[in-house]
Amino acid sequence: MPDRYNILAVPELEILISREQIEQRVNALSAEITRDFSGQSIIFVGVLKGAAIFLSDLIRGVQLDAAFDFIGVSSYGNRPTPAQELSTGWDSTGEVRLTKDVDQSLIGRNIILVEDILDTGLTLTFLKKVLQARQPKSLRVATLLDKPSRRKQPVKADYIGFVIPDEFVVGYGMDYAEQYRNLPDIRVVPRLV
Ligand code: IMP
Ligand code: MG
Repeated sequence: MPDRYNILAVPELEILISREQIEQRVNALSAEITRDFSGQSIIFVGVLKGAAIFLSDLIRGVQLDAAFDFIGVSSYGNRPTPAQELSTGWDSTGEVRLTKDVDQSLIGRNIILVEDILDTGLTLTFLKKVLQARQPKSLRVATLLDKPSRRKQPVKADYIGFVIPDEFVVGYGMDYAEQYRNLPDIRVVPRLV
């Protein structure tokens, strides 16, 4: 059955969080991280591809010795089609696998895992386990968005940009069927009815 992509023109997508609000909040998170890790170094690990833009803004505001890397994941089994993702969300089997590992040793380092959005929590639960096994000195999580109403795993982020309702959002790195990642504001894709 062909998938209904329902790609809409950008002006049809309502802005949930503006570029100015994002900038202000991300700067505040950078300042908080700078204070929390005063005198120490950090490796930021971004989850591809959605966190790439958040990570690039976040690290530029951190006034510490910092490095960054990326990690990639994919979901096994009932991977949702874009239309399913929009109507029911990311209801995968919970099996996540690594598609790209970091390029450096994390032993004894302060790690901040950077995510675009914390939804069911399945991805972060998996990634925290993977990174904890590398014996870092510390492991924290920064997520731009948090949708706590959808949580299936009791995972929490240490740094949260915005808590949002159960809407499907795009822009500032986040996609719908690989579209809209380049939008500077965060917008809502209306549910299929
Ligand atoms: P989790 O394992 O359910 O927490 O999945 C989080 C991942 O699902 C995010 O990193 C996104 O890639 C994707 N995701 C969840 N909600 C949205 C959304 O509203 N827009 C775009 N991607 C989303
Ligand atoms: Mg996605």
